[in-house]
Amino acid sequence: MTILVFIWFFSIIICYKVDATLPSTQDLDMERHLKLLNKPPISTFQMKFGQIVDCVDIKKQPAFEHPLLKNHKLQRNPTFVHKRKITKKNDWEIRKSEFEFEKVTCPRGYVPIRRTNKEDLIQMKYYLSNLTQPSHAQHYATMYTKKSNDKSYNGVNGHIEIYNPRLRRHQMSLAQIAVESGEADQLNTITFGWQVAQELYTRKATHLFALWTSDSFKSGCYNMLCQGFVQIDKSIFLGIGITPVSSYGGIPYEVSFSISQDPKSKNWWVRVNEIDVGYYPAELFSNMKVGDRVGWGGRVCGTMYGLSPPMGSGYFPDGDLTHACFIRQISYHVNGSIQEPNEDVLDIYVDNPNCYNLTYLGFLGNDNRQTLQFGGPGGQC
Ligand SMILES: *[C@@H]1O[C@H](CO)[C@@H](O)[C@H](O)[C@H]1NC(C)=O
Ligand SMILES: *[C@@H]1O[C@H](CO)[C@@H](O)[C@H](O)[C@H]1NC(C)=O
Ligand SMILES: *[C@@H]1O[C@H](CO)[C@@H](O)[C@H](O)[C@H]1NC(C)=O
Repeated sequence: MTILVFIWFFSIIICYKVDATLPSTQDLDMERHLKLLNKPPISTFQMKFGQIVDCVDIKKQPAFEHPLLKNHKLQRNPTFVHKRKITKKNDWEIRKSEFEFEKVTCPRGYVPIRRTNKEDLIQMKYYLSNLTQPSHAQHYATMYTKKSNDKSYNGVNGHIEIYNPRLRRHQMSLAQIAVESGEADQLNTITFGWQVAQELYTRKATHLFALWTSDSFKSGCYNMLCQGFVQIDKSIFLGIGITPVSSYGGIPYEVSFSISQDPKSKNWWVRVNEIDVGYYPAELFSNMKVGDRVGWGGRVCGTMYGLSPPMGSGYFPDGDLTHACFIRQISYHVNGSIQEPNEDVLDIYVDNPNCYNLTYLGFLGNDNRQTLQFGGPGGQC
């Protein structure tokens, strides 16, 4: 396995560059954009933290007005079965985190979508104008499968430990699984995991996120901040809070994440804790009939001249699974079967080893299977 420490050529801009087509601050543009994203709800949930979640007609959600999805046929269920070949119990205790608003359940035919407001768009604009500078103050500690022409990936899996690193304003920290395709200027990706970003979620808690692009972030976005994602589950939605979280040395809490391509429709489904949340329609992608690599790890964004935030648990990997954030049972889908990677097919990308690192622990017993640890304290990076 090669350890690569350099500025990664397809290093992606994730620092809040969420939608290049965001409106200017002009009220009219903003209203128009909000109208595309917020559909008339049948019912509404007001969350404790000021979030509003609307129950929207499943067939009238924002994605279906995307120009590329004019002829898209709603897929209500994936046609594949998730084969779980791992059944053994761990002999150390790991618990599953849950989703905060599991009591939110929309009526039949309706799905929950977090309402986007003006403030969300203004925050986005702030980040757009202030963080789309060279370097973007972003860092990563990730592991990807090597690119090779004869491998085509239809999915990626991993149980990610859940943490809530303490961030300052305008910082962002996430843990991810990802499927990608294409080169620097035509990057297609779906990224899925947990994220802390006060400005995106109006609070400091840990949230479920997904991010996509079909053109190196000229379009695409986090969660439901642009048209694209099709919400299917009636309770678990992109942007929902995740709780409880792990603490250093304590009992680990985790969520199982997967991105899997439906063999019939070719849509990309995202799944957490055995629940199919929804999917990214195949039509959205310019160059991702299949993925040419999959990956796992962490990314952060700081402010231009400020400090970089903690990644993962905020501690460097040291081989003790209760210290740095782990991702275990990593695997991917190749040619319709689930496989576990071996070292020969993996590359590690760490752009600033003084602040963050990633260690591939390989195969561990006790049903952890293939495991990695990533993270670090950040600081003056
Ligand atoms: C960008 O940052 C500067 C300085 O921190 C701030 O004055 C300005 O308002 C920011 N831009 C936007 C659009 O908020
Ligand atoms: C996947 O299928 C392709 C085409 O049939 C084949 O060339 C390739 O070797 C297969 N890859 C694996 C890992 O089985
Ligand atoms: C980062 O992790 C690698 C792989 O485990 C290790 O060899 C290296 O010493 C670590 N780097 C630092 C700066 O700790």
